[in-house]
Amino acid sequence: MPTNFCLIADTHYYNVEALGLRTDHHQKTLNESGAILDAALDIFLQRKNCNVLIIAGDVTCDGERESHDELVKKLRRVQAAGKRVLLITSTHDFEQQSNARRIAQSQPIGVAYTVTGQYHPGMTRRDELRGIYDEFGFSDALSVYDELSYCAQIAPGLRVLMLNDDGNGRPPKNDTAQNALLGDNPQKDDSTNGKHFKDENGINLTKDGHLLCGYSPEQMEWILAQIAEAKAAGEAIFAVTHHPLLPPFPLFPAISKRDMLGDFETVRDTFSDNGLRMIFTGHSHIHNIGHYTSPTGNTITDINTAALCGYPAPMRFCSFADDMLDVHTETVNDFAWDLGGITAQDYLRDIFDRLLRDIIRSAAHDFDKFVEACADFGAPQEKLGRHKTAITILGKFLERGTLGTLGSILLYKRKIPKAAHKVVLGELIAEAVRNIYAGTEHYSPETPVGAAVQVLAERLQKLAGGRLRGTPAEDLPSFFGSLLYDDSPDWEWHGKI
Ligand SMILES: [Fe+2]
Ligand SMILES: [Fe+2]
Repeated sequence: MPTNFCLIADTHYYNVEALGLRTDHHQKTLNESGAILDAALDIFLQRKNCNVLIIAGDVTCDGERESHDELVKKLRRVQAAGKRVLLITSTHDFEQQSNARRIAQSQPIGVAYTVTGQYHPGMTRRDELRGIYDEFGFSDALSVYDELSYCAQIAPGLRVLMLNDDGNGRPPKNDTAQNALLGDNPQKDDSTNGKHFKDENGINLTKDGHLLCGYSPEQMEWILAQIAEAKAAGEAIFAVTHHPLLPPFPLFPAISKRDMLGDFETVRDTFSDNGLRMIFTGHSHIHNIGHYTSPTGNTITDINTAALCGYPAPMRFCSFADDMLDVHTETVNDFAWDLGGITAQDYLRDIFDRLLRDIIRSAAHDFDKFVEACADFGAPQEKLGRHKTAITILGKFLERGTLGTLGSILLYKRKIPKAAHKVVLGELIAEAVRNIYAGTEHYSPETPVGAAVQVLAERLQKLAGGRLRGTPAEDLPSFFGSLLYDDSPDWEWHGKI
């Protein structure tokens, strides 16, 4: 009999009934998050032979206590049906100033923002999380590390490492308000050859003072011991953590390295060389399956799962038998919400697209709004500010320009397939980003759009000369190619673990 389980990520549940409708526009569908989660739980509960639901962190919107308390009630429905929930929490599940877009800088820590513009006392402290979720994996774990990580037996012969990687809640260095409270004096941690730092409270930092969303040396020691124990017992083991171990698309670390698992370049080698073959991750809200082979020839696969509370609201259904794991994706295709007469998938896609179109429109006409919107995709504000004029000009061009227009400007129009002439650049970018998030990057160089972008990229490369050397866009054709097309499947996987 195979062992079946289901995995979802980034539920970002927002208790709309208690906290009020959000009017701010997010990539996350916060108001609908409860309805989507209920629908996902219905789908899971209907599966007769699938008895374990795994949630890979960021279970609430921003750590509101009302959201946690209601989420517990929702998840108890799973247990009442005789099934199990195994979850980890992450950085969105407790109060910290780095959720700054949602928490006014001037407000004391411990108050949450609601749409009505009021401040609502109800944030959750990190040290409360274990108590809230004890029944969802922690209480019957084989081993628990530092309260929030654990190793669980899914079924005879299969274990899962549920790894908290929230960095103990240290805010980024530029969150001065909270750092003033915590102290800001990172010291080299000699046990890591100076790679990691600790502040006076023992909180793990990167060398530039950022929160290390990853593992401390002590946690890694515990992880490797768990892997070794499972192997000694002749059982298969895989891991679940929140931050991606492998880039969800090739340029991701160049754009936002702080959204990767801390020190991922080392951790991927440590994991694969110690026999871990499979890790499930979330956080990026991108649906992707990536593979890595260490210099010593060991492989690891990272199944990064997009957010449940956004397009395409995916659920990974997994089946394990004889050391082989099968993974396939299904989506939530209906939920109890006024969808305005369209399908749930179209509704979620429209919200996603509207956000991207707003970003392009605000790049052209409202720079402050543009910076705010980009923050939702992890783009750092400081970097954008330096390029305001260029971004405004570009925004205006993207709004109206087509692949044909760009071809004319570059004196290359005749090389562009006719079928691609009228494709509006802004619309294409919006679709390409949506495809990356959904794991459906389908514009191969054989398609008219893919071919047009390739020839335009070659032309731009020539014009740029050596000016792009040393940047992520050094090789423009492959830069754009990697954004438009990914031929390795992101929705399905089958292999040995
Ligand atoms: Fe996250
Ligand atoms: Fe998230």
